[in-house]
Amino acid sequence: MSKPASSSFLLLLLSATLLATVCRADPDPVQDFCVAVAPGGHNNASSSSSTYPGFPCKPASTVVSDDFFFAAHAGGASTDNPMGAGVTPGNVEAFPGLNTLGLSINRVDLAPGGVNPLHTHPRSAELVHVEAGEMLVGFVSTEGRFYSKVVRAGESFVIPRGMVHFQYNVGKGAARAMTVFNSQLPGVVLAAQTLFGADPEIPDDVLAKSFQVDADTIKLLKSKFQKG
Ligand code: GLV
Ligand code: MN
Repeated sequence: MSKPASSSFLLLLLSATLLATVCRADPDPVQDFCVAVAPGGHNNASSSSSTYPGFPCKPASTVVSDDFFFAAHAGGASTDNPMGAGVTPGNVEAFPGLNTLGLSINRVDLAPGGVNPLHTHPRSAELVHVEAGEMLVGFVSTEGRFYSKVVRAGESFVIPRGMVHFQYNVGKGAARAMTVFNSQLPGVVLAAQTLFGADPEIPDDVLAKSFQVDADTIKLLKSKFQKG
């Protein structure tokens, strides 16, 4: 027996709504702004827990122009580390004015030969806009295909949401990019750190079998990524 037309329509509407919710990055805001505020009163989103669709709002009457201003990207993070990379995050935790707006921005600095190592953002696509130098930027699709490009100052490359990606300085001097996200808190899963530096540890056997190598190789990798 066929369903009445109205119930089929309702089903279609429900599926479309569900699909829209799943495919979207952050939810749309329901007011002009919602500057994040910690329950304690000081304006530090990281000390408050994120709830759907974001952090609690500071009362609008107390919002000032500085809440929409972020100066931390005027300078970059140090690249004096084994990766030769420094990332200065500009997500809602650092910049509370982004709360509920569905976007954020990082600054990435790379020393010559430096790499922002393989990682993913579970909640966001990423637009890499190179401002100085030249970087090899690449990601791997779910089909295992590697897409990459040498990106120079003034050029951009986009990383679809959830794809494993990196930036690698292939120029002679320092390189710098701004990375823009369609999420106020994209999340970062660092591949090597996640697998070999998890706390508590992922058992050696699981890693050895997964990577088809012996336990000594896994121990060596763990020694590089385990804290303390
Ligand atoms: C670069 O990949 C970044 O996540 O900022
Ligand atoms: Mn990234």
